[in-house]
Amino acid sequence: MMKMMTVTLIVFFCTYGYTDMISGKKLFDNAKCMECHNIKDFNDKTVRKAKIFTQLEDKVSACQMENNAYWFDDEVHYVAQYLNKEHYHFIEKE
Ligand code: HEC
Repeated sequence: MMKMMTVTLIVFFCTYGYTDMISGKKLFDNAKCMECHNIKDFNDKTVRKAKIFTQLEDKVSACQMENNAYWFDDEVHYVAQYLNKEHYHFIEKE
């Protein structure tokens, strides 16, 4: 019984860490972005400025730099994907 639980937990944590969406969320939550931001900054079309996915990514990049999150490019990409899936809903280009 314990062994099965351990295996289940390991599988759970491995899957958790490798999903783009979830690691984007984790990065976002850990960087305390919401200390300044209101959810309206991202989901209200009259407030937000990004109009396409690459603009969103640029803004994530600029904002994390200003706030010393020290994300790598791929981490910026995950967070942009996360915000896009949750709020912006742009068509994402590679
Ligand atoms: C110290 C306050 C502050 C923190 C912390 C902060 N931001 Fe921002 N962010 C701003 C301000 C102010 C703007 C608006 C800048 C502008 O419009 O020129 C902005 C704009 C943005 C935008 C553009 C929104 C749009 O579509 O107009 C995104 C995306 C963003 N921030 C992401 C983040 C992320 C991700 C983090 C966490 C790493 C973060 N921000 C942390 C203040 C902050």
